[in-house]
Amino acid sequence: AYRADDDYDYLFKVVLIGDSGVGKSNLLSRFTRNEFSLESKSTIGVEFATRSIRVDDKVVKAQIWDTAGQERPHTSHGERLPRKELHRKGLPQRQVKPLRMASLMIIVTNVVTVGYRAITSAYYRGAVGALLVYDVTRHVTFENVERWLKELRDHTDSNIVIMLVGNKADLRHLRAVSTEDAKAFAERENTFFMETSALESLNVENAFTEVLTQIH
Ligand code: GTP
Ligand code: MG
Repeated sequence: AYRADDDYDYLFKVVLIGDSGVGKSNLLSRFTRNEFSLESKSTIGVEFATRSIRVDDKVVKAQIWDTAGQERPHTSHGERLPRKELHRKGLPQRQVKPLRMASLMIIVTNVVTVGYRAITSAYYRGAVGALLVYDVTRHVTFENVERWLKELRDHTDSNIVIMLVGNKADLRHLRAVSTEDAKAFAERENTFFMETSALESLNVENAFTEVLTQIH
């Protein structure tokens, strides 16, 4: 039977998360356009790309979201200063100024925190799959996986399919995270696990396809 090119049975939102520089954007470009860039810049804002694959007799369209994995704010802000303290009469100038600065800082931090929360929940909203990426050559990116997992679980449905992805497996001489450690972690946390190389096209197809196949 005839089907239009953009016809599909299911549309699944999949998010890419993980520290900056682990290769999220290159995994995305490899999967959706078969492209890789050695000098890719850190992602600004949110980008997304789509690709349709066949799962059994159904066409599944994946809408994959990508954003920069820069360091996130962890604590929101300090104590709010009582209003009357700020406007108390008769304070010497040099005491008023630091108070004004402090209140301004609190306002700025609040705006940043609220903005961050709004963007975070929009990013995760409706996601049914996730690739949580670390870099096998930088151990700290693996240590941070726990934090990413918490943020992911705080913002998504408990049925979400999660694939832990150890990227840059081509850099064999620089490896800092063993396959066994990552596999054990994935088992403990009940996620899928794969090592990939966006550079060598190793397992990229498999990682995305497995997530899309496991979504019900
Ligand atoms: P942010 O957008 O800052 O969060 O980074 P990102 O996770 O999107 O990383 P990006 O895809 O931009 O890749 C960062 C650097 O790693 C780039 O120089 C890529 O060329 C390189 N890179 C990505 N994947 C691989 C890989 O599989 N192997 C190797 N050797 N380098 C890779
Ligand atoms: Mg990126």
